[in-house]
Amino acid sequence: MADDQSRTGIRYAAPDIVSFCDRVHAAHDGPLREAFEAPAAAGMPPIMVAPSEGKLLGFLLGLIGARRVVEIGTLAGYSAIRMARALPPDGHLISLEVDPKHASVARQNIERAGLGERVEVRVGQALSLLGELAGEGPFDAVFVDADKEGYCDYGRWARDNLRPGGLLLADNVYLFGNLLADTPTAEAMRRFHEESAAAFESVCVPTPDGLLLARQRGG
Ligand SMILES: C[S@@+](CC[C@H](N)C(=O)[O-])C[C@H]1O[C@@H](n2cnc3c(N)ncnc32)[C@H](O)[C@@H]1O
Repeated sequence: MADDQSRTGIRYAAPDIVSFCDRVHAAHDGPLREAFEAPAAAGMPPIMVAPSEGKLLGFLLGLIGARRVVEIGTLAGYSAIRMARALPPDGHLISLEVDPKHASVARQNIERAGLGERVEVRVGQALSLLGELAGEGPFDAVFVDADKEGYCDYGRWARDNLRPGGLLLADNVYLFGNLLADTPTAEAMRRFHEESAAAFESVCVPTPDGLLLARQRGG
Protein backbone atom coordinates (compact mmCIF):
# COMPACT_ATOMS: atom_id res chain seq x y z
CA MET A 1 0.00 0.00 0.00
CA ALA A 2 2.80 2.43 0.93
CA ASP A 3 4.53 1.73 -2.38
CA ASP A 4 1.32 2.28 -4.30
CA GLN A 5 0.76 5.55 -2.50
CA SER A 6 4.16 6.94 -3.34
CA ARG A 7 3.97 5.68 -6.95
CA THR A 8 0.49 7.00 -7.64
CA GLY A 9 0.41 9.98 -5.33
CA ILE A 10 -3.02 8.74 -4.24
CA ARG A 11 -3.76 8.92 -0.53
CA TYR A 12 -5.85 5.85 0.20
CA ALA A 13 -7.87 5.61 3.38
CA ALA A 14 -6.44 2.94 5.68
CA PRO A 15 -7.71 -0.51 4.59
CA ASP A 16 -9.44 -1.12 7.92
CA ILE A 17 -11.40 2.12 7.51
CA VAL A 18 -12.41 1.14 3.97
CA SER A 19 -13.43 -2.34 5.21
CA PHE A 20 -15.50 -0.84 8.00
CA CYS A 21 -17.32 1.46 5.56
CA ASP A 22 -17.82 -1.39 3.05
CA ARG A 23 -19.33 -3.54 5.82
CA VAL A 24 -21.67 -0.81 7.03
CA HIS A 25 -22.74 0.70 3.70
CA ALA A 26 -22.04 -1.88 1.00
CA ALA A 27 -22.30 -5.28 2.69
CA HIS A 28 -22.40 -8.46 0.61
CA ASP A 29 -25.30 -10.88 0.71
CA GLY A 30 -24.85 -14.42 -0.68
CA PRO A 31 -25.07 -13.65 -4.43
CA LEU A 32 -22.83 -10.60 -4.16
CA ARG A 33 -20.26 -12.54 -2.16
CA GLU A 34 -20.25 -15.36 -4.72
CA ALA A 35 -19.83 -12.94 -7.63
CA PHE A 36 -17.09 -11.04 -5.80
CA GLU A 37 -15.18 -14.21 -4.97
CA ALA A 38 -15.79 -15.92 -8.33
CA PRO A 39 -12.82 -14.49 -10.25
CA ALA A 40 -10.26 -15.82 -7.77
CA ALA A 41 -12.11 -19.15 -7.50
CA ALA A 42 -12.31 -19.55 -11.30
CA GLY A 43 -8.71 -18.51 -12.07
CA MET A 44 -9.79 -15.14 -13.50
CA PRO A 45 -8.16 -11.82 -12.55
CA PRO A 46 -9.87 -10.32 -9.46
CA ILE A 47 -10.28 -6.90 -11.08
CA MET A 48 -13.90 -6.09 -10.27
CA VAL A 49 -14.94 -2.79 -8.73
CA ALA A 50 -14.61 -2.48 -4.96
CA PRO A 51 -17.77 -3.01 -2.86
CA SER A 52 -18.38 0.70 -2.25
CA GLU A 53 -17.85 1.56 -5.92
CA GLY A 54 -20.31 -1.16 -6.88
CA LYS A 55 -22.82 0.23 -4.41
CA LEU A 56 -22.23 3.74 -5.78
CA LEU A 57 -22.98 2.57 -9.35
CA GLY A 58 -26.37 1.23 -8.27
CA PHE A 59 -27.01 4.31 -6.14
CA LEU A 60 -26.44 6.62 -9.13
CA LEU A 61 -28.65 4.52 -11.41
CA GLY A 62 -31.40 4.71 -8.80
CA LEU A 63 -31.08 8.50 -8.61
CA ILE A 64 -31.68 8.94 -12.34
CA GLY A 65 -34.43 6.29 -12.49
CA ALA A 66 -32.40 4.23 -14.96
CA ARG A 67 -34.20 1.44 -16.83
CA ARG A 68 -31.82 0.64 -19.70
CA VAL A 69 -28.09 0.35 -19.07
CA VAL A 70 -25.04 -0.81 -21.01
CA GLU A 71 -21.94 -2.18 -19.25
CA ILE A 72 -18.63 -2.65 -21.09
CA GLY A 73 -16.59 -5.32 -19.27
CA THR A 74 -18.55 -8.01 -17.35
CA LEU A 75 -15.85 -10.20 -15.73
CA ALA A 76 -17.82 -12.39 -13.23
CA GLY A 77 -20.91 -10.18 -13.06
CA TYR A 78 -20.26 -8.39 -9.75
CA SER A 79 -20.87 -4.83 -10.98
CA ALA A 80 -23.67 -6.10 -13.24
CA ILE A 81 -25.50 -7.49 -10.20
CA ARG A 82 -24.92 -4.27 -8.26
CA MET A 83 -26.37 -2.21 -11.11
CA ALA A 84 -29.19 -4.56 -12.13
CA ARG A 85 -30.54 -4.53 -8.58
CA ALA A 86 -31.04 -0.77 -8.92
CA LEU A 87 -33.24 -1.17 -12.00
CA PRO A 88 -37.00 -1.71 -11.94
CA PRO A 89 -38.22 -5.29 -12.59
CA ASP A 90 -38.70 -4.55 -16.29
CA GLY A 91 -35.30 -2.81 -16.51
CA HIS A 92 -32.58 -4.19 -18.76
CA LEU A 93 -28.80 -4.28 -18.40
CA ILE A 94 -26.77 -5.38 -21.40
CA SER A 95 -23.21 -6.30 -20.40
CA LEU A 96 -20.51 -6.77 -23.05
CA GLU A 97 -17.65 -9.22 -22.51
CA VAL A 98 -14.96 -10.42 -24.91
CA ASP A 99 -13.92 -13.53 -22.95
CA PRO A 100 -16.41 -16.44 -23.24
CA LYS A 101 -15.22 -17.97 -19.95
CA HIS A 102 -15.81 -14.71 -18.08
CA ALA A 103 -19.24 -14.43 -19.70
CA SER A 104 -20.15 -17.97 -18.67
CA VAL A 105 -19.09 -17.44 -15.02
CA ALA A 106 -20.96 -14.13 -15.01
CA ARG A 107 -24.15 -15.70 -16.34
CA GLN A 108 -24.05 -18.29 -13.53
CA ASN A 109 -23.64 -15.58 -10.89
CA ILE A 110 -26.36 -13.45 -12.43
CA GLU A 111 -28.77 -16.43 -12.50
CA ARG A 112 -27.96 -17.21 -8.85
CA ALA A 113 -28.77 -13.60 -7.99
CA GLY A 114 -32.21 -14.05 -9.62
CA LEU A 115 -31.40 -11.47 -12.30
CA GLY A 116 -31.34 -13.69 -15.37
CA GLU A 117 -34.33 -11.88 -16.87
CA ARG A 118 -32.89 -8.42 -16.27
CA VAL A 119 -29.29 -8.92 -17.39
CA GLU A 120 -28.08 -10.04 -20.79
CA VAL A 121 -24.39 -10.82 -21.32
CA ARG A 122 -23.29 -10.46 -24.94
CA VAL A 123 -19.96 -11.97 -25.99
CA GLY A 124 -17.57 -10.24 -28.37
CA GLN A 125 -15.39 -7.19 -28.87
CA ALA A 126 -17.20 -4.31 -27.20
CA LEU A 127 -16.72 -1.92 -30.10
CA SER A 128 -18.34 -4.26 -32.57
CA LEU A 129 -21.19 -5.15 -30.15
CA LEU A 130 -21.78 -1.43 -29.53
CA GLY A 131 -22.21 -0.94 -33.26
CA GLU A 132 -25.09 -3.42 -33.19
CA LEU A 133 -26.51 -1.89 -29.98
CA ALA A 134 -26.77 1.61 -31.40
CA GLY A 135 -30.17 0.81 -32.89
CA GLU A 136 -31.50 -0.28 -29.48
CA GLY A 137 -30.97 3.03 -27.67
CA PRO A 138 -31.17 5.57 -26.28
CA PHE A 139 -29.85 4.32 -22.94
CA ASP A 140 -30.00 5.78 -19.43
CA ALA A 141 -26.43 4.92 -18.46
CA VAL A 142 -23.21 3.39 -19.80
CA PHE A 143 -20.59 1.93 -17.43
CA VAL A 144 -17.13 1.52 -18.97
CA ASP A 145 -14.76 -0.96 -17.28
CA ALA A 146 -12.82 -2.80 -20.01
CA ASP A 147 -9.72 -2.26 -22.19
CA LYS A 148 -8.33 1.16 -21.37
CA GLU A 149 -7.28 1.89 -24.98
CA GLY A 150 -10.95 1.73 -25.96
CA TYR A 151 -12.27 4.37 -23.55
CA CYS A 152 -12.34 7.19 -26.16
CA ASP A 153 -14.43 5.08 -28.52
CA TYR A 154 -16.71 3.99 -25.68
CA GLY A 155 -17.13 7.60 -24.52
CA ARG A 156 -18.03 8.74 -28.04
CA TRP A 157 -20.56 5.91 -28.30
CA ALA A 158 -22.07 6.99 -24.97
CA ARG A 159 -22.28 10.59 -26.19
CA ASP A 160 -24.28 9.42 -29.22
CA ASN A 161 -26.48 6.90 -27.42
CA LEU A 162 -27.34 8.32 -23.99
CA ARG A 163 -30.62 10.12 -23.41
CA PRO A 164 -30.48 13.72 -22.14
CA GLY A 165 -29.58 13.49 -18.44
CA GLY A 166 -28.13 10.00 -18.96
CA LEU A 167 -24.85 8.99 -17.26
CA LEU A 168 -21.49 7.87 -18.55
CA LEU A 169 -19.54 6.16 -15.73
CA ALA A 170 -15.96 4.95 -16.22
CA ASP A 171 -13.63 3.16 -13.80
CA ASN A 172 -9.80 3.27 -13.64
CA VAL A 173 -9.52 6.69 -15.20
CA TYR A 174 -6.29 7.33 -13.23
CA LEU A 175 -4.96 4.40 -15.30
CA PHE A 176 -3.52 2.62 -12.25
CA GLY A 177 -1.58 5.76 -11.40
CA ASN A 178 -0.13 6.11 -14.92
CA LEU A 179 -2.49 8.73 -16.34
CA LEU A 180 0.27 11.28 -16.89
CA ALA A 181 2.79 8.82 -18.37
CA ASP A 182 4.26 9.22 -21.85
CA THR A 183 2.59 6.15 -23.39
CA PRO A 184 -0.09 5.72 -26.07
CA THR A 185 -2.54 4.28 -23.50
CA ALA A 186 -2.06 7.20 -21.12
CA GLU A 187 -2.41 9.65 -23.99
CA ALA A 188 -5.65 7.94 -25.03
CA MET A 189 -6.97 8.03 -21.46
CA ARG A 190 -6.17 11.76 -21.16
CA ARG A 191 -8.02 12.33 -24.42
CA PHE A 192 -10.98 10.42 -22.95
CA HIS A 193 -10.99 12.81 -19.97
CA GLU A 194 -10.80 15.86 -22.25
CA GLU A 195 -13.48 14.67 -24.65
CA SER A 196 -15.79 13.74 -21.76
CA ALA A 197 -15.33 17.16 -20.16
CA ALA A 198 -16.15 18.83 -23.48
CA ALA A 199 -19.16 16.68 -24.37
CA PHE A 200 -20.75 16.17 -20.94
CA GLU A 201 -21.10 17.79 -17.54
CA SER A 202 -18.35 15.76 -15.89
CA VAL A 203 -16.44 15.16 -12.68
CA CYS A 204 -13.63 12.77 -11.82
CA VAL A 205 -14.27 11.28 -8.37
CA PRO A 206 -11.00 10.50 -6.53
CA THR A 207 -11.66 6.84 -5.75
CA PRO A 208 -8.38 4.88 -5.46
CA ASP A 209 -8.13 4.62 -9.26
CA GLY A 210 -10.50 7.40 -10.36
CA LEU A 211 -14.17 7.11 -11.34
CA LEU A 212 -15.39 9.45 -14.06
CA LEU A 213 -19.03 10.56 -13.84
CA ALA A 214 -20.43 12.43 -16.81
CA ARG A 215 -24.00 13.59 -17.42
CA GLN A 216 -25.44 14.02 -20.89
CA ARG A 217 -26.50 17.62 -21.34
CA GLY A 218 -30.10 18.60 -21.91
CA GLY A 219 -31.88 16.47 -19.31
C1 LIG B 1 -12.17 -4.86 -14.99
S1 LIG B 1 -12.97 -6.25 -15.67
C2 LIG B 1 -14.68 -5.86 -15.46
C3 LIG B 1 -15.10 -5.91 -14.03
C4 LIG B 1 -16.59 -5.80 -13.82
N1 LIG B 1 -17.09 -4.57 -14.42
C5 LIG B 1 -16.88 -5.77 -12.34
O1 LIG B 1 -16.58 -4.74 -11.71
O2 LIG B 1 -17.40 -6.77 -11.81
C6 LIG B 1 -12.74 -6.00 -17.39
C7 LIG B 1 -13.42 -7.03 -18.27
O3 LIG B 1 -13.47 -6.48 -19.60
C8 LIG B 1 -13.24 -7.51 -20.53
N2 LIG B 1 -12.73 -6.87 -21.77
C9 LIG B 1 -11.49 -6.41 -22.01
N3 LIG B 1 -11.41 -5.89 -23.25
C10 LIG B 1 -12.64 -6.02 -23.80
C11 LIG B 1 -13.19 -5.67 -25.06
N4 LIG B 1 -12.46 -5.08 -26.01
N5 LIG B 1 -14.50 -5.95 -25.30
C12 LIG B 1 -15.26 -6.54 -24.33
N6 LIG B 1 -14.78 -6.90 -23.12
C13 LIG B 1 -13.49 -6.63 -22.86
C14 LIG B 1 -12.23 -8.42 -19.84
O4 LIG B 1 -12.25 -9.72 -20.38
C15 LIG B 1 -12.70 -8.36 -18.39
O5 LIG B 1 -13.58 -9.43 -18.09
